[in-house]
Order: sequence, then structure tokens, then C-alpha cells
Amino acid sequence: MITVLVLLIMAEGTLSSGWSVTFENKNPCALKGSSVEFRCSYNYTDGETVRETAWQRGTFKNGSWTRVKLSDLPSYENRFKYIGDLQHNCSLAIHDLQENDTGYYYFWFDTDKYGRRSKESVYLSVTGLSARVYPERVRAGDSMTLECRMSCQLPGTVWFKDGHPVAKPQFQAQAEDSGNYLCAVEGHESEPSDPVALDIQYPPLNVSIEVSHTGHLTKGSSVNLTCSSAANPATDIYTWYKGTVFSSSSMLQVGSGQVLSLVSLEASHTGLYLCQARNSVGENNSTEVLVTVNQTDINRVILLVGIGVKVVIMLLIPLVIIWVWKKRCNSAVDKKEHSHDYENISTA
Ligand SMILES: *[C@@H]1O[C@H](CO)[C@@H](O)[C@H](O)[C@H]1NC(C)=O
Ligand SMILES: *[C@@H]1O[C@H](CO)[C@@H](O)[C@H](O)[C@H]1NC(C)=O
Ligand SMILES: *[C@@H]1O[C@H](CO)[C@@H](O)[C@H](O)[C@H]1NC(C)=O
Ligand SMILES: *[C@@H]1O[C@H](CO)[C@@H](O)[C@H](O)[C@H]1NC(C)=O
Ligand SMILES: *[C@@H]1O[C@H](CO)[C@@H](O)[C@H](O)[C@H]1NC(C)=O
Ligand SMILES: *[C@@H]1O[C@H](CO)[C@@H](O)[C@H](O)[C@H]1NC(C)=O
Ligand SMILES: *[C@@H]1O[C@H](CO)[C@@H](O)[C@H](O)[C@H]1NC(C)=O
Ligand SMILES: *[C@@H]1O[C@H](CO)[C@@H](O)[C@H](O)[C@H]1NC(C)=O
Repeated sequence: MITVLVLLIMAEGTLSSGWSVTFENKNPCALKGSSVEFRCSYNYTDGETVRETAWQRGTFKNGSWTRVKLSDLPSYENRFKYIGDLQHNCSLAIHDLQENDTGYYYFWFDTDKYGRRSKESVYLSVTGLSARVYPERVRAGDSMTLECRMSCQLPGTVWFKDGHPVAKPQFQAQAEDSGNYLCAVEGHESEPSDPVALDIQYPPLNVSIEVSHTGHLTKGSSVNLTCSSAANPATDIYTWYKGTVFSSSSMLQVGSGQVLSLVSLEASHTGLYLCQARNSVGENNSTEVLVTVNQTDINRVILLVGIGVKVVIMLLIPLVIIWVWKKRCNSAVDKKEHSHDYENISTA
């Protein structure tokens, strides 16, 4: 039994010396869906003529390894092409690669004297791409790594986020970086990985207050202040604060919930309002919004006082004019009389 085996090995190795099969790359790696070429050359004793060539696939069948011609395997139908010749080139091309094309491939040729097969094989690896993000749960500010997994190493990985190229697979996560990422091999962008969602958590940003009523708020009317924010996860706690017009430093809590309804407005509602938005990551404040309630009563008083003052002034003006005019007349008469007196005195 052992002797037979040794003889077989010797038959393959030495009996027919002078022939060889050489593979340019014995461990090619190819992308699923792409094509691969096995560059191969073969040699044999001068004077022999090659009659037939074939590529075989190493197949585990019925408990042992056997070699089956690709032309006998239905799954390779129309997918492989012998691009070599009957001289010294034994190259093979396989298209539309599937992951299960991974395996051992052998070259076989037959001359008018001997049938020979390659002792060595090409081991083809076909890989798909699998996009991963680390860590899986990310908060704004964390460092991120994108990893494009493959079962064999292909050069030139590129990344896309929602269809746009990503500059670097390592970065500091920002709120805007949330999205769907996928990787591809340069030149094979049409065969990308499945997308992976990157969900970056961040505290409320862009917190702002919308006032339901613009313009003057009159006493007794109502107004809604609505707080909005961008947050992930969504803001779940809203707190409202109010400060006086002159000082926002000492603000008091005046409500909660996304909408602050101010009904039956009073002058005392006038003030600076701000809303604080909070989620599990953190909190942030809106800018302050000034709410002014028109103080109708006081206005009326001011208006009335104003009118009163005007009426009084308008009545006073003619009186003043008359008084001034009268005074001038009187003083003219006085002067005459005085000068007369003076003359009288001086002549006396
Ligand atoms: C092929 O074999 C011949 C003789 O057997 C030898 O002279 C020649 O160099 C070989 N060619 C290659 C490419 O190995
Ligand atoms: C597997 O081997 C058994 C016996 O060892 C044989 O009867 C059967 O035909 C073989 N099947 C194939 C597909 O070669
Ligand atoms: C074999 O033929 C292919 C296709 O024609 C060619 O690309 C390759 O360079 C050749 N290889 C050798 C070793 O001559
Ligand atoms: C290889 O996988 C493809 C698709 O995944 C399938 O259609 C084919 O039958 C498989 N071939 C073999 C030999 O299992
Ligand atoms: C916050 O607002 C700015 C400017 O409008 C915008 O560019 C940014 O995308 C917003 N941030 C979020 C998380 O929506
Ligand atoms: C609050 O939000 C602003 C922009 O809306 C942002 O620049 C700032 O960093 C946030 N503060 C905190 C503590 O998250
Ligand atoms: C404020 O909101 C409540 C319900 O959210 C609504 O019934 C009311 O009409 C709103 N008031 C104003 C002034 O928009
Ligand atoms: C938001 O405003 C409240 C009330 O003035 C204050 O206590 C809190 O520190 C502020 N938060 C931030 C992040 O500025």
C-alpha cells in the first residue's frame, strides 16, 4: 500500500521530469461578484504536443478529496474561460465570483505522450465585504473606527456615508456623522458591503423657543411657547425658566413639558423665558426669549395724563400770551409816568 503511494508520487514527480506548472499567484484574493485571472505557465519535454488542457476544482466528495473539471461542474457554467493556449500559457479567468468559489484549483494537460496534472494548486479566496463601526454605541465626541471586514486582504478600501465619500475611517464622532455607512474596494464601487447604521447620541442642540403669537400680547390673552431641539435620543425632559427683564441670572422654574401655555396674561408674565432640554446624554438651554405683556391699564393712565397735560398747556398758552401782552402795555404806561415824574423831579 505504502509502496504504491510512493510509486504514485514518484510517477508524478520524477518519472516525467522536464515538465512543470507555475502559478504567478498561488493565493489570490478576489471580491465577490468580481472576476479573477489565474496567471499560469506550463512546460513539458521538447517534442511533445499538447492535445488537451483543463482546470479542475478540488472537491470534497463522498469522504475524500477529488478533482473535478470545471466544465463538469454546473455552478461554473458560463463563468470560466481558459485564456491560455496549447503551448505554455495556462491562464484561467473566472467571472461573477461567488463566495463558494473559494477553494483549490488545479491545472491538467495531456500530451500525445502523457497526461499530467499540477501537483500544486491555486487556492482562491473569494470575499464579501462587511462594514462594522466601533464602538457600536457612540456619543458625540467619542473616537470612531470604521472597519471593512473581509476574509482575505484586498487593498484600497473606500468608505461612503449616505452615498458620499468618507475621508478617513477614524474620526471624532459628531452629531452630523449619523447615517448609513458602507465600504467598497477601490475600482469595485458597484460591489459594496451592506450598509451599517451609525447612530451617534448627542445632547440637545439648537434648542429654540417658538412663540405662537408674534407682535403685541395684550392683557388677558394667551400665548404658547414651544421648545424644539435636535437631540439623539429625542429630548424627553423640558423645563421652563423665567427671569426678570433686567436679570436672567436668577431664573425661576415656571413649568415643564414641550409647550408652556401662558393664559390670562398679566403684566407679571412679562420677562425673559428660556427652555432647558434634556435627554440621557445631557442638557442644553435655549437662548432667552422676551415676552412683553402690554400693560393696558397703565397705558390708559399715561394716555389720559398725556391728553390732560396737552389740554392744560393749550388752555394756558393764550392766557400766558394775554398776560405777557398786558404786562408789556402796563410797563409802557408806567415808564411814561415815571419819566414824567423824573422830569418833574429834575426840573424841581
Ligand atoms: C521548458 O523546458 C525546456 C526543456 O525541457 C527548457 O529548455 C525550458 O527552459 C523550459 N522553459 C521554461 C519556461 O521553464
Ligand atoms: C460514494 O461512495 C459509495 C461507496 O463508498 C458509492 O456507493 C457511491 O456511489 C459514491 N457516491 C458518489 C457520488 O461517488
Ligand atoms: C497568458 O495569456 C493571458 C491572456 O492572453 C495573458 O494575459 C498572460 O500574460 C499570459 N501569461 C503568460 C505567462 O504568458
Ligand atoms: C454557490 O453559491 C451560489 C449563490 O450563493 C449558488 O447559486 C450556488 O449553487 C452555490 N454553488 C455550490 C456549488 O454550492
Ligand atoms: C443646528 O443648527 C445648525 C445651523 O442651522 C445646523 O447646521 C446643524 O445641523 C443643526 N444641528 C443639528 C444636530 O440639527
Ligand atoms: C448647547 O448647544 C450649542 C448649539 O446649539 C452647542 O454649541 C453647545 O455645545 C451645547 N452645549 C452643551 C453643553 O451641549
Ligand atoms: C396653546 O396650545 C393649546 C394646546 O396645546 C391650544 O389648545 C391653544 O389654543 C394654544 N394657544 C395659543 C394661543 O396658541
Ligand atoms: C440652563 O439654565 C438654567 C437656569 O438658568 C441653569 O441652571 C443651567 O445651568 C443652564 N444650563 C446650561 C447648560 O447653561
